[in-house]
Amino acid sequence: MITVSDVRELRSHVDAWRRGGNVAFVPTMGNLHAGHLSLAQAARQMADRVVVSIFVNPLQFGVGEDFDNYPRTFEHDREMLQGEGVDLLFSPPVEIMYPKPKAEQTKVEVPGISGVLCGASRPGHFVGVATVVCKLFNMVQPDIALFGKKDFQQLMVIRRMVEDLAMPVQVRGIDTMREPDGLAMSSRNGYLNEQERTIAPALYRVLQNIGDALQGGNDDYAGLTMAATKELNQAGLQTDYLVIRRAEDLVEPAAGESRLVVLAAAYLGRARLIDNIEVQR
Ligand code: PAJ
Repeated sequence: MITVSDVRELRSHVDAWRRGGNVAFVPTMGNLHAGHLSLAQAARQMADRVVVSIFVNPLQFGVGEDFDNYPRTFEHDREMLQGEGVDLLFSPPVEIMYPKPKAEQTKVEVPGISGVLCGASRPGHFVGVATVVCKLFNMVQPDIALFGKKDFQQLMVIRRMVEDLAMPVQVRGIDTMREPDGLAMSSRNGYLNEQERTIAPALYRVLQNIGDALQGGNDDYAGLTMAATKELNQAGLQTDYLVIRRAEDLVEPAAGESRLVVLAAAYLGRARLIDNIEVQR
């Protein structure tokens, strides 16, 4: 596996690879777990060459969020990616990604969808995500890019950006990898202490219960989410949002809607956990 931090060097490899085949790209912020690796494995299946990036993006962290403390485990990450047959690891320093002060940096905004749910709780977050992913796409120039459905809203923001700006990249969403007790794998699970870790699977459990009710024809969206929020809070989490939305565009669904997604975010100790499940009925 080639490891590069320089854009010109990155391009020289990718240009050569694109002449003979296609290139898949997996952007990450590192501290890799099996969820990230499942993206690299799927990329391996889809393309001749696989590029992974590790960059903890300051632009997507708000004031008081965990940018400074975000776990950085570069050597371990590199070994894991090597084990997955990744061809190239791109890890640019912050001065390469953002040579100018934040206020002077060109930004990419995907309106509407960026302002709800996680975007409402984390103002500016999705501008930071769209901007860095746009820039990484321009640097790597992949044919295919893979994102986890665990960050459902993020995946939608990226899809919308690619469509609206006619970016020549195919975006693929990959299923969420979970711990045996159902907790979605996340770099932020490491913030949980032992007791919090036993509480955390309640998040997926309540989502599943709502999913079962929806599958059974229950359309009382408000009643379902209210009861589940109460259950989460009683379990010891602090619910930020728990909603049922139309899967296509995250707007509030009409009764009888067939493609739904149940999304939740909750605080537990130092961690902000998010999860979602899709329901097709
Ligand atoms: P990060 O949180 O490191 O996640 C990188 C990718 O891994 C994202 O597409 C995310 O959805 C996916 N992922 C995380 N947990 C997963 C799980 N349990 N199962 C499957 N996939 C999972 O998301 C980001 O970084 C950043 O916002 C980024 C897109 C890199 C832009 O900075």
